Amino acid sequence: MTPVARRAKPTPSMNHRRPRRAQAVAAEHPIGVFDSGIGGLTVLKALVEELPSEQFIYLGDTARLPYGTKSPEVIVRYSRENAEFLLARGIKMLVVACNTSSAVALDRIASETIVPVIGVIEPGARAAAKATHSGKIGVIGTEATIASGAYTRAIQKYRGDAEIYTRACPLLVPMVEEGFLDNEIAEKTVAHYLESLKASGIDTLLLGCTHYPLLRDLFRKVMGPHVRIVDSATATARAVGEQLSALGLARARGRGAQSFFVTERPDRFVRVGRRFLGPEVESAVGIER
Ligand code: DGL
Repeated sequence: MTPVARRAKPTPSMNHRRPRRAQAVAAEHPIGVFDSGIGGLTVLKALVEELPSEQFIYLGDTARLPYGTKSPEVIVRYSRENAEFLLARGIKMLVVACNTSSAVALDRIASETIVPVIGVIEPGARAAAKATHSGKIGVIGTEATIASGAYTRAIQKYRGDAEIYTRACPLLVPMVEEGFLDNEIAEKTVAHYLESLKASGIDTLLLGCTHYPLLRDLFRKVMGPHVRIVDSATATARAVGEQLSALGLARARGRGAQSFFVTERPDRFVRVGRRFLGPEVESAVGIER
């Protein structure tokens, strides 16, 4: 077996309804990060840049992606199983890197979990509310994220008078995974999705999906230089850093590290994941569900 194709035994607790309670958490413990697949590596990238001494365990549920087209019930179920897998590994904090899971399942996971849980919606919404001058904000994401209204509610908490325009962009996830970041097809697709937001005169565009930071240059090109582009990944990494410091859980010294688990095709995860994160994605362990 190649290093990228190792398989780990499923954890015995993986199908339990409640995540296992963690032992006493300490700064030395790793941070758990999960996503529906590869895209959450954009969040991990921001986390590694912000917190270079931390150790991260990343789980990508590649067998069941995409989450963005699934029902809330299914997204909640998958997300809880992901949380449970990471909690069983003694993490000190859980980062829900997937926008769709954060939009639909965060409250449920947080209510069942003893370690602090941070999703990407709240930090992204706060950053967008801070960035806008006119109060006109565009939000793009998967079908499930947009349908949940989670970003709209979160932005309104920080800026009650905001005018929020939303658009689901389902083709962008497979497009990014295919490596279409700046070709003609990518440009036409992005222009098509952003047309109505552009016409609304937004001054801030919030990238509410893990894959979209890779299209940042294209969003800028299509929207023009006056529209601010805010991505949830960077805002979330800052929020994680603040929260760790506030709780006295930051790992101050030492070299950070990342390990990767996926529910299917570790080889593809490594190949595509390198585009998202870089050469750090050396190998991934396949787990069974
Ligand atoms: N990770 C998902 C998100 O951020 C996008 C991919 C999917 O639909 O599973 O919403």
